[in-house]
Amino acid sequence: MKAVRINEFGGPEVMKIEDVARPVPAPDEVLIEVHASGVNPVDAVIRSGANESLRGFLTLPLTLGWDAAGIVIEAGSEVTSLKAGDEVYGVPNFPGDGSYAAYCVGKASQFAFKPKSLSFTQAAGVPLAALTAWTAMFGHGNFQAGQRIFIQGASGGVGSFAVQFAKARGAYVIGMASADNLDYVKQLGADEVIDYSTQRFEKLLSDVELVLEASPIRDNGERIKAIGILKKGGSFVSVNTDFAFNQELIAFARAAEVNCSLAANEPKQEWLAEIAGLIDAGEVKVLINKVFPLEEVAEAHRQIATWHVRGRLVLDIRH
Ligand SMILES: NC(=O)c1ccc[n+]([C@@H]2O[C@H](COP(=O)([O-])OP(=O)(O)OC[C@H]3O[C@@H](n4cnc5c(N)ncnc54)[C@H](OP(=O)(O)O)[C@@H]3O)[C@@H](O)[C@H]2O)c1
Repeated sequence: MKAVRINEFGGPEVMKIEDVARPVPAPDEVLIEVHASGVNPVDAVIRSGANESLRGFLTLPLTLGWDAAGIVIEAGSEVTSLKAGDEVYGVPNFPGDGSYAAYCVGKASQFAFKPKSLSFTQAAGVPLAALTAWTAMFGHGNFQAGQRIFIQGASGGVGSFAVQFAKARGAYVIGMASADNLDYVKQLGADEVIDYSTQRFEKLLSDVELVLEASPIRDNGERIKAIGILKKGGSFVSVNTDFAFNQELIAFARAAEVNCSLAANEPKQEWLAEIAGLIDAGEVKVLINKVFPLEEVAEAHRQIATWHVRGRLVLDIRH
């Protein structure tokens, strides 16, 4: 089968389309005929080998991509929730071989029926980013209906889902992005928007119950400013798990009586099913920026690495 592999870390040019053996599902896994794969910034980070905390978990050669939509071809002997023929979306085992391939395997618990209202191409843009937002807000942030939430990186893959999940739960949403994306963040449902390049959120906001850090900024000084806008008992949740909280931040948060946590996405079938429900109910929209054939994967990586793509980038595997 065809797969986009790396045999070494480096720039977009290290990705090669190769012929490799079709994977075989373990008893708790499904084999998926991949129709489309999402392209996420982490794919480019892994390809480059620049992230020390991830690098130790990676084995080369490696098939990239952790966002799949396709059809189950075979279910392992222990799998009861999915069967051959099911149209699914989900996250292949991270950081094992991924979804830039004609077929991939993943734990069945990491896949669910894809939203009926979406094509495979659209569905492939959902799992990783949406699950990251969901894990951070509901798994870590104890987010409740009607709360005030401040989302940093509100126009991005993770942030755009977070804005919509929060609105679907009746929250008051403040989204931060660049000037070019403020209208987009409003269209997603944000009640207020903040331009990160000209406005200082810490002077404008207070009494927030949850701050979600979903921007690529890794700076504990900025985090402390964000913690300063929280109500007592509120939460600061960052999805940037590769950048630890420092002692100053921990002491500041303790004095302010707020909770802080780092959230790595948890690919749970029940959460994917809830997300599919919100999409099919029209409460969450999926914007696809561009669909690339496999041959143009290097260009997709150049774009995703900018941290400024509005909407999702997707590889059309069956093109
Ligand atoms: N823990 C996990 O499991 C997990 C999973 C996925 C992602 N992540 C992390 O989540 C973060 C967001 O990922 P993503 O996929 O949503 O990325 P993305 O789609 O590229 O979105 C980036 C967002 O950050 C904003 N941004 C870019 N430069 C900025 C700056 N200098 N200051 C403030 N905001 C800035 C962008 O706004 P404009 O475009 O308007 O500038 C956009 O809203 C990344 O740090 C990524 O590593 C974690």
